[in-house]
Amino acid sequence: MKNRVLTILLATLVFAGCSTGDSGDAAMDRFCSDLLGKMTLEEKIGQLNLPVAGRINTGEARNSGSAARVKAGEVGGFLNVRGAATVRELQQLAVDSSRLGIPLLFGLDVIHGYETVFPIPLGLSCTWDMEEVEESARIAAVEASSDGISWTFSPMVDIGRDPRWGRVAEGSGEDPFLGCAVARAMVLGYQGQPGSRFTRPDEIMACVKHFALYGAAEGGRDYNTADMSRTRMFNDYLPPYKAAVDAGAGSVMASFNVVDDVPATVNKWLMTDVLRGRWGFGGFVVTDYTGIAECVPHGMGDIHQVSVRALDAGIDMDMVSEAFLTQLLSAVKGRILEAKYRLGLFEDPYKFCREEEAALKLRCDAHRAAARRIAADSFVLLRNEEFKGRKVLPLEKKGTVAVIGPLANTSSNMPGTWSVAARLSECTTLIDGLREELGDKVKFLYAKGSNVISDLEVEKRGTLYGRDIPRDGRSDAEMLREALAVARQADVVVAAVGESSEMSGETASRSSIGIPDVQQTLLRELLKTGKPVVLLLFNGRPLSIEWESGNVPAILDVWFGGSETAYAVADVLFGDVNPSGKLTISFPRNIGQIPLYYSHRNTGRPLPEGEEYFKRRSCYIDGPSSPLYPFGYGLSYTAFEYGPVTLSSGSMTEDGSIRASVTVTNTGSVAGREVVQMYIQDVFGSLSRPVRELKGFEKISLEPGESKTVGFDITADLLRYYDNSENLILEPGDFNVFIGPDSRTCLDSFGSSVGNS
Ligand code: BGC
Repeated sequence: MKNRVLTILLATLVFAGCSTGDSGDAAMDRFCSDLLGKMTLEEKIGQLNLPVAGRINTGEARNSGSAARVKAGEVGGFLNVRGAATVRELQQLAVDSSRLGIPLLFGLDVIHGYETVFPIPLGLSCTWDMEEVEESARIAAVEASSDGISWTFSPMVDIGRDPRWGRVAEGSGEDPFLGCAVARAMVLGYQGQPGSRFTRPDEIMACVKHFALYGAAEGGRDYNTADMSRTRMFNDYLPPYKAAVDAGAGSVMASFNVVDDVPATVNKWLMTDVLRGRWGFGGFVVTDYTGIAECVPHGMGDIHQVSVRALDAGIDMDMVSEAFLTQLLSAVKGRILEAKYRLGLFEDPYKFCREEEAALKLRCDAHRAAARRIAADSFVLLRNEEFKGRKVLPLEKKGTVAVIGPLANTSSNMPGTWSVAARLSECTTLIDGLREELGDKVKFLYAKGSNVISDLEVEKRGTLYGRDIPRDGRSDAEMLREALAVARQADVVVAAVGESSEMSGETASRSSIGIPDVQQTLLRELLKTGKPVVLLLFNGRPLSIEWESGNVPAILDVWFGGSETAYAVADVLFGDVNPSGKLTISFPRNIGQIPLYYSHRNTGRPLPEGEEYFKRRSCYIDGPSSPLYPFGYGLSYTAFEYGPVTLSSGSMTEDGSIRASVTVTNTGSVAGREVVQMYIQDVFGSLSRPVRELKGFEKISLEPGESKTVGFDITADLLRYYDNSENLILEPGDFNVFIGPDSRTCLDSFGSSVGNS
């Protein structure tokens, strides 16, 4: 539904920048400059060095290769060391045996949980529940901080609009408004509330990454060139980084890619003019892994030149390249010392080594219960048709269910990419979890059905880092035969198929994004048995599942739901939890449609409403232009009806506001949660504006028959955008407001509304 609103009467505003850094802390400044005054040049440079320590067994840190470097003051912190006892040993070396006793930082990729693992970030964002997002980061901080970690390389806030790029799994999807909300929630979860930040021992420093534009890698190929207009950059790609900085994130990580043909690591405009100048960032900037050394193949100079350039651009810490250590002779800044001061490490260097607490908290019942709840809320019900007069889902808690597929009996694949602290062998497999939860009522049968991919070499690339799915030595035909025999004995088939864990994430770009070959065959054959089939989709990215969407009666997207996935799947499949996740990234029908995102420009030749092909309009001759599943989409076991949108006024001035409201009713027979979404379209502007942009959302709970009115305040801030001169402007004019259950039900083409509500 839409409603034409408001004429804004005002002059253009120019963005003036804002300062959020809290470097005004006088005591800290005094402390750090005193300390800097005592440091040799080598010691100063040592603080900028973040080596990777490799595996150190407890009790062996003193004799490890890292010990001598710590004592010599060559190290500011370590990457990938964890475990309270090991961290304590290294910290003790730094404090007791280095000349100035400066404590170390310990950084780790705590991306979606620590030992208790939450859904991969893309899944987490599909909850649209910012309290749950913050809670997941809080629990991650509680666990990681007790186990030695003071600094996490999260949140990853890169906008992702190309599902070929494996790292869409690590972000919050395609939209900047939602991306900003998630970025804020994560920073608060890790670092605590502004004002009391880092006062608790279980608050750790966040690192916003990857600054900037990493998600725009051309062709979706990891590490590839990104190139875009400044308006696209400022309006769509930069806002989530800024939101994290505004929320007080203590550090920022430079991305691997070029921005305006200059690698981010040595890009002074990005790191200094934008980040510090415009945004007032007061924390420190770390490179990504070997980011400085990679500037050599980028063509920026030799290792000495790129080191100097990186420092000059605004980089404070060198992850792994060890280039600063060997190359820099110039004076260095004290931002790493400030970070250590802020974290309270000078007061108590062992603040994050709480062995007893770690023993109690890591993967404790309360954390696992939260992970299970949040995982269930991240699942997106893509399709749920009737089969013999009844919707396929939820399943009845009786009879026989065949669970079939290469993802059905693996524990190491459950937590998903970048879960470095997960106890892989303790993540319950799907089949075990289902049996544990419902084995007394439902008979579960299992067959593997197929390998992940027929080509062993390709399969290996998606089963790395201990996330192996043992290759079945039988022939494809033999495995299929067994699966079909099992399926025939069941009332319902649950096909656990899709991607293995490491088919998404870093260095896991795909040039085709379907369900892999042998699994496709398995699914088609299972359907031929005539049994109702539920496609339980494991994936770190949108998959092109057009055929499946036309043929499989029920599809539940469970992403990689974390350590408690199996239980969460039991909750949702059997109706104890009503799915409420909604997509935060569009599902294309096929790879040729990429990039496909809902907030596109209209073009001068938009498709007429309701059409998928029209000569001389912007479309394809060989298929639809619309997504398979749009941004914001997700079904429920109940139904929600939207009333008309009402506006408190038809116009506003710059300092005014308008409230847009809608009443939503649960017209089904079970309680459910719905994400009510508001989109705005700037009808005419000095630039061509998106057909709609998310500008508000609220997740509500409704009992059967219950109605709630949801209201969104539209203020001038929601209507501003960046012009070609990078100024944030507000233009008078007409705006359309749409409220609905997803991004498409509201609007199909310029100025016309469609949809079911
Ligand atoms: C990734 C980062 C990560 C870092 C440290 C890099 O390869 O791009 O996201 O934080 O490694 O593990």
